Amino acid sequence: MSNPSITLSLLLLISLSAKLSSSRVFLSIDCGTSDTYTDLLSINWVGDGDYIHTGETHPTDTSLLFPFQLPRWTSTLRAFPDLRKSCYTIPVPGGGKVLVRAKFYYGNYDGNFSPPTFALNFDANVWEVLTFAADSPTLIKEAIYVVDGNVTSVCVAQVEEGQVPFINAIEVRSLDSGMYGNVDSSRALFNMKRIALVPVRFPDDDFDRIWSPPIVLPDGLGVTNSDTSIMHVNITDRPPASVLQNALYPLNASNSIILALNDPPFTYNLYFAEMTKLTSMKVLKLLQNQFDALQAWAGDPCLPMYYNWEWVKCSSDQTPRITSLDLSSMDLSRVLPDFSAMDALEYIDLHNNSFSGSIPDFFGNFPNLKELNLADNYFSGPIPSSLTNNNNITLHQKLCQSYNCATSAEKKKKKSSGNKIGLIFAILVSILFIISIVVVVLLYRRQKRTAETLQSIYEGNMHGQHHTNARVQEMPMRATDGQTSSFSFSLYK
Ligand SMILES: *[C@@H]1O[C@H](CO)[C@@H](O)[C@H](O)[C@H]1NC(C)=O
Ligand SMILES: *[C@@H]1O[C@H](CO)[C@@H](O)[C@H](O)[C@H]1NC(C)=O
Ligand SMILES: *[C@@H]1O[C@H](CO)[C@@H](O)[C@H](O)[C@H]1NC(C)=O
Ligand SMILES: *[C@@H]1O[C@H](CO)[C@@H](O)[C@H](O)[C@H]1NC(C)=O
Ligand SMILES: *[C@@H]1O[C@H](CO)[C@@H](O)[C@H](O)[C@H]1NC(C)=O
Repeated sequence: MSNPSITLSLLLLISLSAKLSSSRVFLSIDCGTSDTYTDLLSINWVGDGDYIHTGETHPTDTSLLFPFQLPRWTSTLRAFPDLRKSCYTIPVPGGGKVLVRAKFYYGNYDGNFSPPTFALNFDANVWEVLTFAADSPTLIKEAIYVVDGNVTSVCVAQVEEGQVPFINAIEVRSLDSGMYGNVDSSRALFNMKRIALVPVRFPDDDFDRIWSPPIVLPDGLGVTNSDTSIMHVNITDRPPASVLQNALYPLNASNSIILALNDPPFTYNLYFAEMTKLTSMKVLKLLQNQFDALQAWAGDPCLPMYYNWEWVKCSSDQTPRITSLDLSSMDLSRVLPDFSAMDALEYIDLHNNSFSGSIPDFFGNFPNLKELNLADNYFSGPIPSSLTNNNNITLHQKLCQSYNCATSAEKKKKKSSGNKIGLIFAILVSILFIISIVVVVLLYRRQKRTAETLQSIYEGNMHGQHHTNARVQEMPMRATDGQTSSFSFSLYK
């Protein structure tokens, strides 16, 4: 398993581009306003007056999406009723590779309740014809390309009579010339999906790429994390440390992670990490980093005694160890990170949150665990055998909200002898280096690769499994040409 993974990593290290470095651009333009401000991520925004001399500015109705808090760039836009094509001219001194995001929110600015259809272009190239779905009123488009000359232009253009183009925001970030060097620099990459196991953005990502976790994890896969301080990161795409330190791994070490990629052409970059074991204090820090709600606590979680953090309890040893973790009713969501390194835990209470994905196998392997409460979450899939076979652990009933798995919890109570094989496998998983992946998929519209080539590159580098009994988890998404495409992880057993 490790050899193929290394091959693919090396593939990413080959840089085709040898452009000289240029001065960096990190520009965020809020269209339709002259305001300058700093947003919650400490990113500075400027109005669009310096970059365009045409069009009309309008406020939008941001109350339409109540109760969601919309970012400030949605509150104004610039519309272009007159010209067939209208362009923002943005200086990129010295040229170089850039990431450009164009953002759109119609917000019924014209009172017509009818979002228009129009084209988005960059430099002299067609990017995409935009249509707004009723259920997703904001559109964010991202492309990566090499700027020819000292400026880049981002344009909106009419495609139908009476349909007025508009735009709300443009973000331009210079990239290192070697980034995404596995793609011919004369072509543009259009982002389809950028997946990490935790949400990551600026300032964790220097280049302000937006990394989002999958909504659900396919059955049989878990999330684990590692200590980046001892991590050797040398990938030209410069994925941020926080992306690499959280990785996907198969809960059963003898299974593979399989990606089924449909409807090419596209290109994808995968990042692999060899995960290392963490100390419990570092894991606590990672938990805090992952969940905003936990960040208020600082200092020593255990000391002085009686002033321990509200959500942990510690042993009264010379060097206190964390024996209880109570994250109940804290409004925490998405996938649960691997905190199995906190091996002194006796009580774990995670009830009444919105955790999703499969129930991690590591719960069954805490040597001292007595009580586990996972009720009122969105876990799915079977209860891992490491848990059902561990008679030391009292599982609270009503484990899952999405379906009734109380019966298997009850069954567990009647079971007397544990399945030793399951336990051995689970221990192997935690001991062995876990090769795991973080996935980036970028749509590469004009690339002339066939499904077969992609499949064989993928299989040649990752594994040689036979495709039987596939369990596929699909994540639908739209391709830039408007066709429906999908990217899926699948686990074959
Ligand atoms: C870019 O700007 C520099 C300095 O202003 C100038 O010397 C150079 O000719 C410009 N390059 C292009 C392609 O316009
Ligand atoms: C990182 O990778 C590049 C290209 O393979 C290599 O030249 C460089 O020496 C590596 N740096 C480190 C610190 O390993
Ligand atoms: C569940 O948690 C929410 C906060 O996330 C809290 O407001 C609510 O009261 C809790 N419900 C119960 C039954 O504890
Ligand atoms: C259950 O507890 C006993 C006594 O503490 C311990 O020896 C045993 O290893 C535990 N079993 C599991 C599966 O952790
Ligand atoms: C792991 O997968 C292998 C191969 O599919 C299977 O034989 C084994 O029983 C599985 N182990 C566990 C603990 O589920």
